[in-house]
Amino acid sequence: MTIAPNIPEEISPSTDTLLTSETDQEFNWRNCWYPVTFIQDLPTKRPYSFSLYDEPLVLFRNKDGKLICLADLCPHRAAKLSDGQIIDGKIECLYHGWQFGSQGECLHIPQLPADAKIPAKACVKSFLVVEKQGIVWMWAGEANVADEKLIPTVADLDNPTVVSSDYMIDLPYDQTYFIENAIDPSHLYISHEATLNSRQQAQPLEMEVIETSARGIRGRYRKTRQQTENWMQLNFIAPNLITYRGATAS
Ligand code: FES
Repeated sequence: MTIAPNIPEEISPSTDTLLTSETDQEFNWRNCWYPVTFIQDLPTKRPYSFSLYDEPLVLFRNKDGKLICLADLCPHRAAKLSDGQIIDGKIECLYHGWQFGSQGECLHIPQLPADAKIPAKACVKSFLVVEKQGIVWMWAGEANVADEKLIPTVADLDNPTVVSSDYMIDLPYDQTYFIENAIDPSHLYISHEATLNSRQQAQPLEMEVIETSARGIRGRYRKTRQQTENWMQLNFIAPNLITYRGATAS
């Protein structure tokens, strides 16, 4: 499948110029969208736990069916909220039964007298989540600076004539290692020999960075053994989308 993601303009593949623009922008990993899971894989009646850079998080649906994302850490005695249950759209900690709402606010403490006020500190941090193209996306920063237009949608996923294959794999390391692996085409001919390539195809690759900024890299590469090899476009949209687009004319 070829894909054409909705990526930020400065790294979109809209020009053939080979000029490289370096910037000194700093990358803020918090102010980014992260794909969490396919919506079809979400359990309907229990919490869904995941982590982002080792920060434990939990997803669940509130009474209105809206997806809620909270830190997966009870402020009482640090139990994982994802081990609890959903009751009337609130998530209930399995340890002492504190219940939390859509903003992470504590709504019920069974051990408190009926006339006692719930302490304001008894809350958990909440994060913005959005459903787009069958994927749950989480904004890791403050919700008031989230911009849904920055979600790197892939136009072909909305095309009914395109067949796509969705899968998810749990790996014993965070996404940064996987990104480094997936953006490295030189390993394909060896470590994916059985499925994708032949090791006889391992050879020097010509690589060009067309554009680079804190928001990603646009580049291309081609094999060099024969002079007629076509370019493959290879784009990285920070922090987590990589696209390969096949066989452009040399
Ligand atoms: S640890 Fe969660 S309610 Fe006590």
